[in-house]
Amino acid sequence: MTARVAVITGGASGIGRATCLKFAVKGDRVVVADFNEEMGRETVDQITANGGVAIYVKTDVSKQEDVESLINKAVETYGRLDIMFNNAGIGAGGMILDQDMEGYYKTIGVNQHGVAFGIMAAGRKMKELGNKGVIINTASVFGYLASHGTFAYQATKGAVRMMTQTAALELGAYGIRVVGIAPGGVDTPIIQGYKDLGIIDKLSASQMRGELIKPEAIANAVYLLSLEEADAINGSVVMVDDGYAS
Ligand code: NAI
Repeated sequence: MTARVAVITGGASGIGRATCLKFAVKGDRVVVADFNEEMGRETVDQITANGGVAIYVKTDVSKQEDVESLINKAVETYGRLDIMFNNAGIGAGGMILDQDMEGYYKTIGVNQHGVAFGIMAAGRKMKELGNKGVIINTASVFGYLASHGTFAYQATKGAVRMMTQTAALELGAYGIRVVGIAPGGVDTPIIQGYKDLGIIDKLSASQMRGELIKPEAIANAVYLLSLEEADAINGSVVMVDDGYAS
């Protein structure tokens, strides 16, 4: 069987890096996309040190031309595209009445437009290649439940939910599946930005194990969703939250 090709944005850190390592260890060829070059290359080194196959492509997901050339590079290199994981994200906080507008626009640019560009670029390429691909988007429990100080972030994650549903509806005709994940609190650098808002404690206390989720556990869920055995899961955003939203 030909090894699958997985493009993973935000692959330099946290959930993205853990997912790169997971897919590679399972025999998939991985394209690590991130604008953090040093850490992106580190992910590739970790994969190749374990006998896996990966390349790094410097990408700013908030720029459509970067995302288009990322997809082209993946297909030029490996000849196919099976999985697009739109995962890169930032977490600029701020209360609504004191909103820093630069952070607001940046959050929407990365978390919402970045996912939209990924869906469009991967969707077009998968259609052109005629293969049954899967697009997986990272939403959040904060796309479902309100929280203080995360106005822009919440808006983008709600958008990711609806983009996932709508894209599944439109791309299903080409055999392309679109799903999402909604992680709870995960132990990665992004969440440290919310420390002052008490969000880490709140998330930990509301999750069944009383602690943050390990990024590897999220990577496992992404991997399961990518499998053909999961082909009846389409248009859904799956909670991977250790019971936070329950
Ligand atoms: P992280 O901070 O460890 O990783 C985010 C990665 O995205 C970094 O490598 C960063 O360089 C990259 N990135 C940021 N802006 C980018 C851009 N414009 N272009 C390309 N790459 C860019 O954080 P984590 O937790 O791994 O975040 C991954 C996703 O998971 C994000 O979408 C985040 O919103 C989501 N998430 C995280 C949760 C958590 O508690 N850690 C909970 C729910 C969702």
